[in-house]
Amino acid sequence: MFKRLKDVHNISDFRSLAKQRLPGPIFHYIDGAADDELTYRRNTSAFDEVDLVPNVLAGVEDIDLSTTVMGQKIDMPLFLSPTALQRLFHHDGEMAVGRAAEKYNTIFGVSSLGTVSVEEIGEKINTPKMFQLYYHKDKGLTRSMIDRSKEANFDILALTVDTIVGGNRERDLHTGFTSPPRLTLKSLLSFATHPAWAFNYFTHDAFELSQLKDHVKEGSNISISIADYFNKMVDQSMDWKAAEEVNKYWGKDFVLKGIMSVEDAKRAVDIGASGIMVSNHGGRQLDGSRSPFDQLAEIVDAVGDKIDVICDGGITRGTHILKALSVGAKACSGGRLYLYALAAAGQGGVEKALALLHAELVRDMKLMGCKSIKDLHRGNLRFR
Ligand code: LAC
Repeated sequence: MFKRLKDVHNISDFRSLAKQRLPGPIFHYIDGAADDELTYRRNTSAFDEVDLVPNVLAGVEDIDLSTTVMGQKIDMPLFLSPTALQRLFHHDGEMAVGRAAEKYNTIFGVSSLGTVSVEEIGEKINTPKMFQLYYHKDKGLTRSMIDRSKEANFDILALTVDTIVGGNRERDLHTGFTSPPRLTLKSLLSFATHPAWAFNYFTHDAFELSQLKDHVKEGSNISISIADYFNKMVDQSMDWKAAEEVNKYWGKDFVLKGIMSVEDAKRAVDIGASGIMVSNHGGRQLDGSRSPFDQLAEIVDAVGDKIDVICDGGITRGTHILKALSVGAKACSGGRLYLYALAAAGQGGVEKALALLHAELVRDMKLMGCKSIKDLHRGNLRFR
């Protein structure tokens, strides 16, 4: 069924619209995950195994969704995880996503593999900003990304720790997806069948990986698969000492993205991180890895009073967020949930995705008999 923005009522509708709008290889890059995609599916289905137990008659005309996480006061307990290659999905890319985040006063994550420079984002986007760092073998590049984001007044540095090698994304192998897209007969055919996307892609500023292009040509001028990029560029010797040094060098709020075990969560506390994003990279790295929501309680029990614990991944509904907050997450975050919307309709799409999730949160808080985030606790939940 043909869908327009006005027909979209949830994240799954945005996914359908994105699928319609994007050339196949690009859609499957966003939508796909590693191996059999078990972890990807579990990230969302884990929420179904916990039920909410509402209270009523609580006088719920005013709902406060604000929370403070990694030193930032945000107006809703959901933020936009950093994601790569955004101008491939919509020609406005990060500017569209950043403006939508600004409207909802939430954190906007920008990737090392971003397509708008941190300088431009720093200048034009006025909302708390997170820069996501891939720890490159090229130490000069790694340092320059930290320096540039500091200079551009980013608030938080997120060091991604779950991509030490490229995940096995079989959909990308089937489609031949690369950054930038390789112009083959097959890819040109997929562009020809998506003329609106192709027109926008070819008539706007040339695609580039803005934080990387002065150091490496791969990804901007030389087409490369994302798995090959990680395998070639990321420093596999990265360890706790390296993470601690990055934190010291950065000197502001610092978060490790991709922590899954209690042991690692404790070490994150030891190196002085202000937060951890409990995440398996949207199921795109280690298939068979546990879902963030399944793993949340034991991590919150171990370190929840010492560090901000963020539940990243699988979220498509306001109730998913309420469940994670009830377990003890300070906030939730997601990537695909806004990338589908970006691909579907640019800034207006991302704003609508946030509007829908915000409305769900307000409605569901009222139905739960909760007026503010602090009213949510494990007593609200029953595990099946
Ligand atoms: C990915 C990386 C780039 O998951 O974050 O594709």
